[in-house]
Amino acid sequence: MRRAVCPGSFDPLHMGHVEVIARTAGLFDEVVVAVATNYSKTSMFSLEDRIEMASEVFRGLDGVSVAPMGAGLLADFCHEIGASAVVKGLRNGSDLDYEVPMAVTNRALRGVETVFLPAEPRFAHVSSTIVREVHSLGGDVRDMVPGVVARRLGAKRR
Ligand code: PNS
Repeated sequence: MRRAVCPGSFDPLHMGHVEVIARTAGLFDEVVVAVATNYSKTSMFSLEDRIEMASEVFRGLDGVSVAPMGAGLLADFCHEIGASAVVKGLRNGSDLDYEVPMAVTNRALRGVETVFLPAEPRFAHVSSTIVREVHSLGGDVRDMVPGVVARRLGAKRR
């Protein structure tokens, strides 16, 4: 039984995340979408909201569950739930530069491997930061996020 973790702040969840998580579900028996409390960022959505939205998006996807990651180390979370791998999408070289030191550290800490999946090109420009910025300046983000996220963003504006 191979269990993988797809971790992130998901603030908010966007189509790039969804696509990578769906592909991960095809590679592993179980996928846990681990929603982090990220103290270094001011989040747009609360942890509860981010978990709710992800749960709704992945409800129909076999083997995929959503859980809070807590405020500790990702490597410890993986160890506690018996996950052997972290899976992350890579959009570009900057993502790689950012992710590799974390991947090496997670392996050193708990022997957790990291698997990188290349981002689907049509979502390679999408990030939570871009979604928040476009939305906050009045732009349409419906192509970039799942329907539930678009509705929650719309509700925030009203
Ligand atoms: O979506 P994000 O904000 O890029 O997600 C980053 C996240 C939460 C996956 C990353 O910051 C993380 O793994 N945080 C947990 C703390 C930890 O383990 N830090 C050391 C990694 S070397």
